[in-house]
Amino acid sequence: VFGFDLRDTVQTLEYDDEQEGLEDQVVIKFSHVTSEHTPKGLAARKFAELVEERTNGTVSVEIYANGALYNDQDEQQALKENRVQMIAPATSKLTSEYPGFQILDLPYAFSSYEEVRKAYEGTIGRTLLAELNKSEMRGMGFWYNGFKQMTSTSESLLHPSDFERMHFRRMPSPVIERQFQALDASTSLLPFNKTYENLHVEFINGQENTTSNIYTKKLYETQDHLTISNHGYLGYIVLTNETFWKNLSDEQREIIETSMEDATEWIRRHSIETNDAHLRELKRTDSISIHYLNQEQQNIWRQALEPVYIETEAFVGRELMQELDQITD
Ligand code: LMR
Repeated sequence: VFGFDLRDTVQTLEYDDEQEGLEDQVVIKFSHVTSEHTPKGLAARKFAELVEERTNGTVSVEIYANGALYNDQDEQQALKENRVQMIAPATSKLTSEYPGFQILDLPYAFSSYEEVRKAYEGTIGRTLLAELNKSEMRGMGFWYNGFKQMTSTSESLLHPSDFERMHFRRMPSPVIERQFQALDASTSLLPFNKTYENLHVEFINGQENTTSNIYTKKLYETQDHLTISNHGYLGYIVLTNETFWKNLSDEQREIIETSMEDATEWIRRHSIETNDAHLRELKRTDSISIHYLNQEQQNIWRQALEPVYIETEAFVGRELMQELDQITD
């Protein structure tokens, strides 16, 4: 009577169901620049597994490692434009837009993993995350890698005077630039994945990184010496796109947040053994001489790097510097 056809209705319903299913499917493209076998690569994998398991696969995480999609110069812009939904740059790479992050790059700021954890989980971490959350990039938490070590061509680096006239690759953090200036070395700002080739052609003759990055990017092939200096900490801030985040359901947000917390705790524990394992691999390669700084040598490095603190306070503010004082030796 009303031109009602049951078959049409059924078809329409089925079609609607299918559409709904598609709409529910969320893909998080997670782009990062290191190898899969590094703390960041492993944390991303762990996070992906947890999210996929807990959402029954309705949220999937596609990981693009080694800068396959974006490198450190363009990943933040890609995130802001929602071309990827998650990245985890070194905290050093946020310092130009968010100067407060410079505090985490201060040389010898942290003398233990526990101090790093206190910084990330305490007032410093909360203050930095809050600063960020006013932008289109939402901070999800801090991920751990490890302490940075120095590598060099021909001369070993045991005393501050060994840095004179050397040319280092550095990340984009003013503190890191000031660190090398204090040691009378010059620097070039280069993307992580360009470090190997720039060492290879001898445009630079030194760099600093964690043993996991030195090993997995084969930097030892182009370097003669590795100094275990533990002079700075390299960690990450995991970021997502704010609009993407707001468009998720409450339930999806909750699962992603708890999976992030669990992956963070997991990598906090595993990052240390990953870097230790890669240091053992570096020893096994026999192609780089490994030097350990003794206490006296370390004190001399610390003294030489002291001016960096005074210069940095202007960018970071007195309050955060005092906070750092309270949690460190
Ligand atoms: C670097 O640029 O050396 C590091 O930030 C790479 C990384 O993401 O660990």
